[in-house]
Amino acid sequence: MTSTLKSLRALSDPTRLRIVALLEKDELSVNELQEVTRLGQSRISTHLGLLADCALVKSRREGKRTFYKLNPQADSVASEFIQLAIRGSKELAEHGDDQINLKRVLARRKEQAQVFFNQVAGRFDRVYGPGRSWQAFGHLLLRILPAITVADLGSGEGLLSELLARRCKKVIAVDNSEKIVAFGAAKAKKNGLKNLEFRRGDLQNPPIEAGSVDLVILSQALHHAGNPAEAIAAAHRILRSGGQILILDLLKHNFDRARDIYGDQWPGFAECDLHRWLEAAGFKKIEISIVAAEEQPPHFQTILAGGEKA
Ligand SMILES: C[S@@+](CC[C@H](N)C(=O)[O-])C[C@H]1O[C@@H](n2cnc3c(N)ncnc32)[C@H](O)[C@@H]1O
Repeated sequence: MTSTLKSLRALSDPTRLRIVALLEKDELSVNELQEVTRLGQSRISTHLGLLADCALVKSRREGKRTFYKLNPQADSVASEFIQLAIRGSKELAEHGDDQINLKRVLARRKEQAQVFFNQVAGRFDRVYGPGRSWQAFGHLLLRILPAITVADLGSGEGLLSELLARRCKKVIAVDNSEKIVAFGAAKAKKNGLKNLEFRRGDLQNPPIEAGSVDLVILSQALHHAGNPAEAIAAAHRILRSGGQILILDLLKHNFDRARDIYGDQWPGFAECDLHRWLEAAGFKKIEISIVAAEEQPPHFQTILAGGEKA
């Protein structure tokens, strides 16, 4: 039988005309079609099978559910038949009820999609959400980064440096621990990050040419410096004009054991300390804020300070 005859035959049944009309604007699952038409599942499936056979509708599986829609790639003859079927279905007695039921089913589908978000509104940012994580947000934000040269001072093994190196022109990671530098350099090599260079040195006098980097980062490193003001002045020195400094550190705390446990030299910093040192080094557009607070004792808070070399 030719495809034209097959299509004519498929559309000779009023139920199949109803189905085609229901799929005119929306993709519907078998269950939804069942609910709208009040027909049994096996009847609906048989009709859908026939319509799919002559390429008038297309199906898509999602888990245990199958969705149907009008075939977007239907040829001109099939498209003409579809239009005729939609027109013809309007003359059927069930058409009015079908359209009302369709509206109801679609409204409920929309409501269901909103149930979860309505329930968690107000605490959404604090509850688990599949795929939502600071790590993912970090990657997203990294894409905004232009191709710049970064100095990561007190870099550790390069957790942040490696992330930055995937976007930046060059990253120079400076750390004074021989073992950390060796480990970080080997890891960068293994990960194929040719633009990430580890250098051993002190963050108060980093082995980086003056006026050569666009961004200096001191992430949880400044509280290890013997003289934090000197480290900030050194950062200013290696920046090009217009370059930026970003400091992530702990807000001043009373957890004395941080010195023994983490080798910290300073119990974090007050906002005014950082402000004073940044200003003294020559930074402009200084911005300082608390960006995170831990829920567990000793309730460390993270401070983010930034400034621009004029
Ligand atoms: C807490 S870790 C921070 C690592 C990394 N910046 C991060 O945020 O994950 C501090 C790092 O600073 C290094 N460090 C401590 N004092 C330093 C100094 N005076 N000069 C350079 N690096 C230093 C340590 O070896 C360590 O790797």
